[in-house]
This record gives sequence, C-alpha cells and structure tokens, in this order.
Amino acid sequence: MSKVVIISASVREGRKSHRVALYFKSYLEENRLAETEILDLKSYDFPLFSERLKYQKAPLAAASEFAEKVRHADGVIIITPEYNGGYPASLKNVVDLLTDEWYKKPVAICTVSDGNFGGTQVITSLQFSLWKMKAWTVNAMYPVPRVSQSFDEQGVAADKEAADKRAAGFVGELLWCIEAEARMKK
Ligand SMILES: Cc1cc2nc3c(=O)[nH]c(=O)nc-3n(C[C@H](O)[C@H](O)[C@H](O)COP(=O)(O)O)c2cc1C
Repeated sequence: MSKVVIISASVREGRKSHRVALYFKSYLEENRLAETEILDLKSYDFPLFSERLKYQKAPLAAASEFAEKVRHADGVIIITPEYNGGYPASLKNVVDLLTDEWYKKPVAICTVSDGNFGGTQVITSLQFSLWKMKAWTVNAMYPVPRVSQSFDEQGVAADKEAADKRAAGFVGELLWCIEAEARMKK
C-alpha cells in the first residue's frame, strides 16, 4: 500500500484547516487507499530556518525526522489555509527547508478558507514554489470554502457524501501519479 503523508500547515491558535487534514487521514484509512500520517506543523513548532536542512551544521532532530518522512512518502497531501492570498509562513519555512526530498514527489494541494472561495488563490504561489523544487504537483484541486461549517473539529464533513465524492477525484489523481512514478522506477 502507498504511503501518503499529510502536511497540516496552519500553526494558528484556533486553526480550522487542520480539520481537513483529519478528514483526509480518515478518508484514506477508511477506504484503505494508503497508509497515512499527519505531519502537523503546529506540533513540530519549528523555528524559522535560516538555511536548508542539508547545509545546516547541527540540524534539529525533528527537522531531520520531518525531512525523512517526506523523503520516504510515496506522495504528499498539503492542507494549506489561505492567508492574504498566499500560503502561510509556516509552510514556506518547510518548503524551503527541503531540497531533493521534493524531487519528483507527487504532491496534491488542498486549500482552505473560511470564506466563499476555498483558498484557491494559494494554488499559483504554492504550486510554483513546488514546481521550482521539482516536485510533481498533481493536477487536481480540493478547495474547501467555509471550513468552520463544512467540517467539525474531529474532521467529520457536514456533507460526507459530497466531501467523499470530491476526495475520490482528488486522491485518485494523486494515487495515479504515485503509481506512474513507481512504474518509472522499475
Ligand atoms: C493572516 C490571515 C490572513 C487571512 N487571509 C485570508 C484570505 O486572503 N482569504 C480568505 O478567504 N481567508 C483568509 N483568512 C481566513 C482563513 O481562511 C481562516 O483562518 C481559515 O480558517 C483557514 O485558516 P486556519 O487553518 O489558520 O484557520 C486569513 C486568516 C489569517 C489568520
């Protein structure tokens, strides 16, 4: 079974987008689509990194652990809130921390806001940064508008059928890329 890590990017007190990370973890597990783990940037509580991990003389153990989890994952789902039309500093901090860990890594981007537009303005900046890192950004979107109404604190969707239907398409594209990448390695 593929290994998919879910990066939950918001470190804000009272954050809401983490609900969507919980939802995707359950969705992948319930449907036996992948082994999964949430890499929670709030729990990691990283400092602002002054250099890429591979050039750091005394890297934090947690930063090395984070990097290894991304390296060994077959694919990544990023759950990002939209802050002023972009992605949060917490996420940029780890995007720039890693280097070859992103190389040809299938990455699916889920954007979240509490407004009507589901954080879709984040896509261009985040996708561009990941493309620069030579990650393989998956051609599917999962925008979540009005997150406080759409998901509860445990990550249960208010309309599970609709959420699952959209997740099937989104995750399906990620799994397709994971399989394609694995076949190329053979
Ligand atoms: C600094 C900041 C900027 C924000 N900018 C936007 C925005 O540009 N568009 C939007 O729809 N929501 C914006 N929001 C609201 C977020 O959509 C809302 O907090 C949502 O719950 C996702 O972020 P969270 O996971 O940190 O809660 C902003 C929130 C913060 C804290």
